[in-house]
Formats: sequence, structure tokens, C-alpha cells
Amino acid sequence: MKRTKIIDALKRTDFGSKITVMGWVRSKRGSKGIFFIALNDGSTIKNVQIVGEDQNFDEQTVKLITTGACLKVIGTLVESPAAGQASEIQAKEIEVLGVCDNTYPLQKKGASWEYLRTVAHMRVRTNTFGAIMRIRHNMAMAIHTYFHEHGFVYFHTPLITASDCEGAGNMFQVTTKNLYDLKKDKDGKIIYDDDFFGEQTSLTVSGQLEGELGATALGQIYTFGPTFRAENSNTPRHLAEFWMIEPEMAFYDKDDLMDLEEDFIKYCVRWALDNCQDDLEFLNKMVDKTLLERLNGVLKENFVRLTYTEGINILQEAIRQGHKFEFPCNWGDDLASEHERYLVEEHFKKPVIMTDYPKEIKSFYMKLNEDGKTMQGTDVLFPAIGEIIGGSVREESYDKLMAEIERRQMDTRHLGWYLDTRRWGSCPHAGFGLGFERLILFVTGMQNIRDVIPFPRTPGNANF
Ligand code: 4AD
Ligand code: MG
Repeated sequence: MKRTKIIDALKRTDFGSKITVMGWVRSKRGSKGIFFIALNDGSTIKNVQIVGEDQNFDEQTVKLITTGACLKVIGTLVESPAAGQASEIQAKEIEVLGVCDNTYPLQKKGASWEYLRTVAHMRVRTNTFGAIMRIRHNMAMAIHTYFHEHGFVYFHTPLITASDCEGAGNMFQVTTKNLYDLKKDKDGKIIYDDDFFGEQTSLTVSGQLEGELGATALGQIYTFGPTFRAENSNTPRHLAEFWMIEPEMAFYDKDDLMDLEEDFIKYCVRWALDNCQDDLEFLNKMVDKTLLERLNGVLKENFVRLTYTEGINILQEAIRQGHKFEFPCNWGDDLASEHERYLVEEHFKKPVIMTDYPKEIKSFYMKLNEDGKTMQGTDVLFPAIGEIIGGSVREESYDKLMAEIERRQMDTRHLGWYLDTRRWGSCPHAGFGLGFERLILFVTGMQNIRDVIPFPRTPGNANF
């Protein structure tokens, strides 16, 4: 008999019918010759209750029904007398597909997040991680659907690159060279001509530069893939391997860009509220009691649009009023997370799109304002997260872009193809990058980015 998924079993009302379900035992309790099993197969946060009488099964089978064991249950679907569930299954046959002894690391309820990270290969079997992973899947679907419906082309940019997109270091090298026997020139510098690509290569920190090639041909594209940063940021907001969504649009100005950023994030949050109800209610109960309120709140608010300079003025006024920050925030300083969160959580109490940053703290490709001092960046700052999106209008003038590259003394060897976008048929364009895991943090109410990706990669940890 064909297996029914538990999500479907719980919706059925054809009581009296025969049904087969398979899944893992969340818990088992018993009294007076009757046992109750909470069975979960990952299709929903909800368990189906299996009821059995000891006398109908051999003693050995009943003993093997332990937390974590995998079962096949054939029985009758019946209306449940218990509160909180419409139906349950009266077991006729139980087959233990996979036994689970008491060394199973998820025996106890209420294990800490830290502990669960040490068993990340098993933690997805918990209610919370099941909920997070279903929401993560739904957010990926929301993103693809949004862009598809808005006429964007999903554009695949390479993960291995010879260029350094953001003009910063912190990349993971990719090589097939024997690291114990490196070929070096007379100055001791490594020679890469015999390496796989014939030159030094790394894992990409962003698909943006190639994304711009796509946008200046296809009109509007987006990327959605893994991104790698070897920065030693041991924070609850940073991963060494994270997923990024990078839309890039020809003919967009700063206002178009901010409109898209806001509409896109709201669409994702609305999708979660519409499609992940059970999982969100569970997280709202177990992880963060203000989650649903916060998600609904974001949909109601118009995001504040604020220049960096205005932001600095507000922060300095706060300092004058006696507010203490750990880091300085004078004009020209990169804002720390405490500053971003002050603006979003205390001052405005809603998301902020901050624009027009000093050029010294932003990337070379951003469009310079008339003042010659600020660039048209458009970062989105969120409550509880800080920066969730980093975006900008791009400098489309070849001469201005080259001047900035030279001012920064950047190595142009690998940028020729990028500069060609400005050389031939250059167009105004803009784009942004959304950190997928930061979106999942916001939508799940989780506190640590290591807990919203199945197998986190962080300094000192590439386990599983
Ligand atoms: O602000 P970032 O560095 O911008 C870019 O990479 C641009 N190329 C994007 C673009 O304009 N196409 O990164 C974008 C977003 C951040 O706002 C943050 O949400 C996320 O990526 N992010 C990280 N997420 C997790 N771990 C890290 N180490 C991250 N670094 C950035
Ligand atoms: Mg940024």
C-alpha cells in the first residue's frame, strides 16, 4: 500500500480507511497496555499520533519503538478523541525500518543551540530545524517566483574567479598545486602558470561583476548562489559560505532600486506568512514570541529612506542626549552594527534604507554623487539583523570609473572584461545583494546565522 505523507494524512477525513505512513519517532508514551507514538516525516511540523495495543504486537517490536527510530505503520485512520488533532492512526502493523538506540544525540528535549551545532548532521530532525529548513526552502521559492514574475533572467555566474570583485582581500584560494612543493620565482613569489587555470584563482565573494554583464544585455537578471568570504568574523551574522541573491537592472536609478529592494523583501515576508503558517506559529511559540508581530509589522511600514549624513546626525544627537556607543560614528566612519540597530530599533522603529555613503567606505563601482564625496549606495537595515541588503547604483561612466580604480590603485589586469560594459554601449544600471541567511534569520526569529543553514561554514569549522 502506498505511503501517505503525514501532512496529507492529517488533512484526511475518510475515517475508517486503511492508511500507511512512514517516519521517525519523536516520542513514545504508554499506559495500561496502550502506547502512543508521535510520528514525524518532515512534511510538516505536526506529528501524527499512532495508537497501538501492546497485545497486538510482539514484545520485541514494541521495545524497538524508541525516540529517533524509523517506522512503517499500517493502520486505520480514525477521528481523534484528543484535543489539538483531528485524526490519529490505530496501528495494525508496525515495521521498524531503522532502530535507534540510546546513543542517539537528540534524546533530550531542550538541548542548547550550541550543543545542536555539534550534531548538525542530526539536528534537522528536531522540530525547530525542520521548521527552519522548510521556511528556507519556501524563501528560495519566493525569490525565484518574484524575479520570474517580474521578468528577470536567472543568470548563473561563476564560483571560481580570477578577479577580486569587491576590491578587498579575504578570498579562499582554489588550486591544484602541490602546496608542499611550490614553484617560486627568484623573488620567492609563487608562479601559477602550471596551476589548473594557469593563474591564481579563488572562490567568488560576489557574482555582481558578471551579473552586470548579464544586466547590460538581458535588461534585468538575478543570481542566487553560494558566496565565499574568508574574513575572520566570528559573529552571529557572518558565515564563510553563505548564499546571496544579486539582482542587477539596466536603466534603474536610485529610487527604482530602493523601490525594488523594499517590494522584494516584503514579497518574501508575505510569502512566508502565507505559506509557512504552521512553522511560523511553532517558532513564534518556541523561539521568539514577537516573531509574527515583527513580520506583519514590516509589511505595514514604509521603509524609512535616509542618507548616511542624516543618519550620522541622528546618531550624534543621540550621543549628545547621553546615549553610549562602543564605536565612534563621525562622518566618514563605517557604521557599526550598534549604530544601524539604534536607528532601526530605537529611533525609527522600522526598516531603514540608508543611502549616499562616503566613498571611502564603499566599493569602487558605486556611482559617485555630484558632491564628489558620496556614492549612491542603498543598504537596507533591518531590526534584529542590521544590514540585510547591500546595493548601489553603478558608475556607468568609463572615465569616472577608471579614475576611481586608479585612485584606489587597483589591479586592472582582471577587470578588462568588466570595463568593457562601460566601453561599449554603457547604460545606467543598479543592483543589490541580499544575504539569504540574513533573510532567514529575520523570517525565523533565530539569533545565530549558524542555525539557519544546514551545515554552517565558519572559522575553524567545516564539519559535516
Ligand atoms: O554588502 P555586500 O558585501 O555587497 C555585495 O557583495 C555586493 N556585490 C552586492 C551587490 O550590489 N550585488 O553583501 C551583500 C549582502 C549583505 O548585505 C549581507 O546581507 C550579506 O550579503 N553578507 C553576508 N551574509 C552572511 N555572511 C557573510 N559573511 C556576509 N557578508 C555579506
Ligand atoms: Mg555591505
